[in-house]
Amino acid sequence: MYYSLLFVLYFMCIVIQNSDGLDNGLALTPPMGWMSWERYRCTIDCEFNRNDEANDECISEKLFKKTADLMVSEGYLEAGYEYVIIDDCWLAMDRDEDGKLQPDPDRFPSGIKALADYIHSKGLKFGIYEDYGTNTCAGYPGIIDNLELDAQTFAEWDVDYIKIDGCYANISDYPKGYPEFGKYLNETGRPIVYSCSWPAYEDESDYEAISKTCNLWRNYGDIQDSWSSATSIINWYGDNQDKFAQYAGPGHWNDPDMLIVGNFGLTYGQSRAQMALWSLLAAPLLLSTDLANVRPEYKEILLNEDLIAINKDPLGIQGLRIIQKDGIEVWTRPITPIIDEYESYAIVILNQNEDPAPTKVSIRVRKIGLKAKKYTLKDLYDPEKSPKEPTDHINVSVDPSGGVVALKATPVKRKLGLPQINEIDN
Ligand SMILES: *[C@@H]1O[C@H](CO)[C@@H](O)[C@H](O)[C@H]1NC(C)=O
Ligand SMILES: *[C@@H]1O[C@H](CO)[C@@H](O)[C@H](O)[C@H]1NC(C)=O
Repeated sequence: MYYSLLFVLYFMCIVIQNSDGLDNGLALTPPMGWMSWERYRCTIDCEFNRNDEANDECISEKLFKKTADLMVSEGYLEAGYEYVIIDDCWLAMDRDEDGKLQPDPDRFPSGIKALADYIHSKGLKFGIYEDYGTNTCAGYPGIIDNLELDAQTFAEWDVDYIKIDGCYANISDYPKGYPEFGKYLNETGRPIVYSCSWPAYEDESDYEAISKTCNLWRNYGDIQDSWSSATSIINWYGDNQDKFAQYAGPGHWNDPDMLIVGNFGLTYGQSRAQMALWSLLAAPLLLSTDLANVRPEYKEILLNEDLIAINKDPLGIQGLRIIQKDGIEVWTRPITPIIDEYESYAIVILNQNEDPAPTKVSIRVRKIGLKAKKYTLKDLYDPEKSPKEPTDHINVSVDPSGGVVALKATPVKRKLGLPQINEIDN
């Protein structure tokens, strides 16, 4: 009697686990890497300024090999950025005589398999882009009529990650089409991270179905190289978090799009803000910048070990906007370690005001849902500003125009045998 009950419970657990999201064993933490689109777009003119070595910016095997080299030599791979991903505009306009996809012969003369081999030889992983519709967003051949063949081609090329866009397709076909392509990917037997643009084109999305199909999915429009673009995403995530944050977890993530840190559009403070918020959101961290020319102080932001550790936190919980008042926002994310049953927290305080003076923010940690009596606070960008003593108050000054303070709050361990004082109070 007891045993059969346990048996039933055991099976219920399995069912619950499986219904949790896509189970291909991949992306147990949010993917990290480099993707071409935001910085390099669909630049296919490789002749322009051909004599200027620094200006070799077209979508070509040269760009991806150069980037792979820099991922290793500049320390990005060591920090966790492991995928090198080609976005749109790598294809030839026509399929080959066997109906297979093929790259542009002038820009990828060695072929995609050779490029994948090169990237793998550096200890990196290789990603590529296609589109569920008749065409990619930039007009190259899409996969809609060749789902099985194309999945096999990607596996033959040793692809480790694929982004499938949603242009030139009926949005109403996505709920059938994205899972169908996912099934063909699975049948290749090759582990391939599956990134879907499915919800990005919909007004209302079935995130349950999406999280069972895809390892990550874009919810919203493309990021551009500006703070206004970054804030449109941050605000949209905050305003709509109740619809999709709960679907994030190991193996399946919401994707607010690439990091633009290192490019032209963000100030130093805004760059800190994007990195801190993307880490708090358990977002994929996909660089899209010229790795040869990232200024050292921006590179330091991208390589911030504490934020990367928060991004990869094993609880895999997406952070939420808890307070939004007078241009100041407080975002929190429960993380490890858990001490005396209290989670630690990542906390990001963002100032969207444009008045020149920094804003003083003082909050009792209880007000933002932190329930232990006291916390040790570490300031993740300016460790020297961390409070010396454990505290139940956060008192910080946050720069305007996209400044942030990023903190890690760790509960102070209760003394052996003594309950915490707040428990006596209650
Ligand atoms: C295919 O799907 C099964 C069932 O979800 C999973 O266990 C397996 O790891 C998947 N294989 C690949 C290569 O994705
Ligand atoms: C934080 O600010 C509050 C309100 O101004 C003050 O009462 C408290 O002592 C401050 N705490 C710390 C640790 O600075």
